Amino acid sequence: MNIKLHTTVLLNEAIQSLKVKKNGIYLDGTFGAGGHSKKILEKLGTTGKLYAIDQDPYAVTIAKKICDDRFYIIPGNFSHVDILLKKHHLYKKIDGIILDLGMSSMQLISAKRGFSFNINGPLDMRMNPNNGISAHEWINTSHEKHIYYVLKSFGEERFAKKIANKIIIQRKKKPISTTFELSNIIQSIIPKQKHHKHPATKSFQAIRIFINQELQALQIFLNKALNFLKHQGRISVISFHSLEDRIVKQFINQYSQKPNIPYNLPINEKQINQICQIQLKKINRIFPTNQEINNNFKSRSAVLRTAEFHETNYINQQVI
Ligand SMILES: C[S@@+](CC[C@H](N)C(=O)[O-])C[C@H]1O[C@@H](n2cnc3c(N)ncnc32)[C@H](O)[C@@H]1O
Repeated sequence: MNIKLHTTVLLNEAIQSLKVKKNGIYLDGTFGAGGHSKKILEKLGTTGKLYAIDQDPYAVTIAKKICDDRFYIIPGNFSHVDILLKKHHLYKKIDGIILDLGMSSMQLISAKRGFSFNINGPLDMRMNPNNGISAHEWINTSHEKHIYYVLKSFGEERFAKKIANKIIIQRKKKPISTTFELSNIIQSIIPKQKHHKHPATKSFQAIRIFINQELQALQIFLNKALNFLKHQGRISVISFHSLEDRIVKQFINQYSQKPNIPYNLPINEKQINQICQIQLKKINRIFPTNQEINNNFKSRSAVLRTAEFHETNYINQQVI
């Protein structure tokens, strides 16, 4: 398969935000087709290092073709980052972390992966097909209320109730096995409108997020990530969904908020930061330019947020 089919989103913006140092150590938690990884490798000198993670065996196969002794590919889910990086002893050593969330175009266009309502294939949607339950299994066994909950909460689908009900009716006649079968059910509820998104967009996105437990994985990863960053190390996250972006934003806010200390207390800014464990400094929030959106429509919902880690005296010395 041609890996050029995946166009990396916010490539230069993300790499600039990381401020890649020649001798730095970096982590790309979502290797995909390696767009961000390759750019980081270009910036690194001979002593720099890049560790990359992906849970998709196909992405790992692509990564293994990179012959560069500064580069390490680690298969797995980034929510297990502490276990995955354990033998590399990277606690407090990483200069920059990047996550580019969601799925790659290789996943989307592969019929057998079952992610797309435009390409017929077995309903699967697992980023790691060797792990967890497929969309097929879930949609044919779940309670109607749970299907409604997933479509409503992860897809903000207005027609969630009707779609969930129709799924239950249809699967009693015959299990829903393919992407087209599911898409047809959704289209029978939401009529296609000119110039609008495909009626199945929100439902497919919601099911994918649920099947891969994407929001939980992100939250768990962020909770662990600060243990790996060096003082002034940076974390950049590109998200494509408002719920993902909210998690990233709340995480940065949580570690960068200053408390309400009475103004007349005789302590300075640095001391406040130390007392209050201020650990993250907001660096930026960047959206794709109109030009990028015109060239790559998939980038339209992307948001890049970057923060810089500042170690305080009171930081949790958690041993990994
Ligand atoms: C949008 S693509 C990344 C594209 C990449 N930045 C590039 O430029 O080629 C997202 C990748 O992250 C992987 N991924 C998503 N969630 C993951 C997780 N929780 N753990 C590990 N990999 C994950 C997917 O399998 C996919 O390959």
